[in-house]
Amino acid sequence: MVFAAAADTAARHADACPPAAELPAAIDALRRERNAVILAHYYQEPEIQDIADFIGDSLELSRKAAATDATVIVFCGVHFMAETAKILSPDKTVLLPDLEAGCTLADACPADAFAAFRAEHPDHLVVSYINCSAAVKAQSDLICTSSNAVDLVRQLPADRPILFAPDQNLGRWVQRQSGRELTLWPGSCIVHETFSEQALLQLKLDHPEAEVLAHPECQQHLLDHADFIGSTSKLLHRAEASPASGFIVLTEPGILHQMRKAVPHKAFYEVPGADGCSCNACPYMRLNTLEKLWRCLHDMTPAIELDETTRSRALAPIQRMLEMSR
Ligand code: 13P
Ligand code: SF4
Repeated sequence: MVFAAAADTAARHADACPPAAELPAAIDALRRERNAVILAHYYQEPEIQDIADFIGDSLELSRKAAATDATVIVFCGVHFMAETAKILSPDKTVLLPDLEAGCTLADACPADAFAAFRAEHPDHLVVSYINCSAAVKAQSDLICTSSNAVDLVRQLPADRPILFAPDQNLGRWVQRQSGRELTLWPGSCIVHETFSEQALLQLKLDHPEAEVLAHPECQQHLLDHADFIGSTSKLLHRAEASPASGFIVLTEPGILHQMRKAVPHKAFYEVPGADGCSCNACPYMRLNTLEKLWRCLHDMTPAIELDETTRSRALAPIQRMLEMSR
């Protein structure tokens, strides 16, 4: 009886998450034991970015997920990103530290409503932003990311009309850049819709030397103030390459961690949400924590599962994107 109780306690200890100070080393040990690669998006907490094997934008993370020879992919990002990794690498175990890490764009574009939208436009080519579910990808002709959307749309036959989903702000920007008319699904990102224009104007007054960097998920009235617009990686590279000494950044402030690491002598200013709220941080991305990262590697769950029909249908437009991306 006493031995059984002691064994129980030992098992409980083996399952207990290590104290915060020991977490990075414990995660590293598990990563080696599982032959895992940790991929992280720039909107993750700094301590997650610091432990990741690779940090990137959606396109770069997809490429890494397709090319890795690890047995396990831990995706520190949101659900559609981990799902894309599973579509590209079905034989690997793909873990997402918190399964609740969704995305307003993906969640507000359900597969059945999207099928009805497509049915209203049967002659259209369907281009979907990667921020959508596998079931929506499976109904698309081509997937794009914020990094390649303009270039890909420009490559489409001029005589074919185009549906673009699910981000109307990105779609409008692509429309302006490419000169192609797009029929837009009316979705948007809660984070990129939240930035206060008034706060942005005040930051511009306070730091007249600063460049404004913006993600194309922002609304047009904010993009109109931008000196440079691009995906998260492109914004980071712009901050490195630009001669400017300061930057006002219109995207999720997680990216500032890599910007400050890359060019520590430059100044970075995040733009708050309206009413000064901290809702400029993505509530989904920030669900992942170091503790959940350790836990998912320890338990090998939650893992992304997909039915094979949906997966193989969703794969074709992603592969088309990878082939067409320069
Ligand atoms: P990128 O990192 O591809 O620019 O995408 C940003 C995003 O929407 C992540 O949610
Ligand atoms: Fe989705 Fe917006 Fe969060 Fe990106 S920042 S995951 S688009 S809700």
